[in-house]
Amino acid sequence: MPVSTFTASARSKGMDWPELHLPEDWRGALQSAAGRKRILVLGPTDAGKTSFIRALAAVAPEPLGLVDLDPGQKMLGPPGTAGLGSIEHLCRFIFVGSTSASNLGGIGRAAAALAADAARAGAFVVNTAGFVVGLGARLQAITAKAVQPDLLVEIGVNPTVDPIVAASGEVPLIRLGRSPAARRKSPAARAALRQQAFAAALSGAEPLRLRQVVFHPGPPLPWPTTARPVCALADDDGTDMCVGVCAGFDEEAAFVDAPPPPRPVRLVRLGKMWAEPQPAGGWRLLEKLHPSWLPA
Ligand SMILES: Nc1ncnc2c1ncn2[C@@H]1O[C@H](COP(=O)(O)OP(=O)(O)OP(=O)(O)O)[C@@H](O)[C@H]1O
Ligand SMILES: [Mg+2]
Repeated sequence: MPVSTFTASARSKGMDWPELHLPEDWRGALQSAAGRKRILVLGPTDAGKTSFIRALAAVAPEPLGLVDLDPGQKMLGPPGTAGLGSIEHLCRFIFVGSTSASNLGGIGRAAAALAADAARAGAFVVNTAGFVVGLGARLQAITAKAVQPDLLVEIGVNPTVDPIVAASGEVPLIRLGRSPAARRKSPAARAALRQQAFAAALSGAEPLRLRQVVFHPGPPLPWPTTARPVCALADDDGTDMCVGVCAGFDEEAAFVDAPPPPRPVRLVRLGKMWAEPQPAGGWRLLEKLHPSWLPA
């Protein structure tokens, strides 16, 4: 998909970050990482990857780009996407269609495209999902190959880091312990963060009637009773502009609730994410699907 020009209408989620406490080994690592151009941060869930990146952005000698490849626990942008921006601001995203990191191909392609753009702007750091064993090890090796980092930072114990180092071209590796300040997020807390990111992406959403658009893949048929597919609205070039919820379609148009996109929509991209309408208006991202909500 061509992704060279983009003006995102989606917003970063305006996160209230907690105060950081830096362990001694992190301080040294931050000093070493601050001069690097392409830093890939890896580690299991709740190790402190996001916290380390926040600390790095604060000490970096120049504005640091951020490529966020975690589709579930976002630093930037809507769930189910990979994003590019700074720690504060999303510039561009690619819809990967799932909040799970198991879409290796989609995340790998997004990693390559976003890292290439980030490199043109300057130094950047890559945030990854805490999916590092089994299929996750494969995902991180694909990511390392796509990003071509000049430094790997591994936080917490990651038994499968060697193939990832090999895939990144044997670049220097800094191994850090899990921050003592790191706290495990419960599944409910993780779900709440996804909802927060989803609500932020849909803030300012309006019912849009989109004519002359193509669904990719085709719309679910028969149309489900309750759940509605989450979609990305892409322009003529296939560039994602915003995330929305497809409320329905007829022969002439697709009906999508989304923030008004900056350019005409040509493509409604669907993934494996669903939302349901809320009684008070708006949409809630579904964490679990009741089978009767989906087409047979
Ligand atoms: N150095 C730190 N100072 C303060 N809080 C921290 C620090 N490291 C981690 N935490 C807290 O611990 C929790 C997990 O950390 P964080 O979100 O950075 O981990 P992660 O590896 O990015 O997790 P995920 O796999 O969910 O993306 C968060 O609530 C975070 O605020
Ligand atoms: Mg994180």
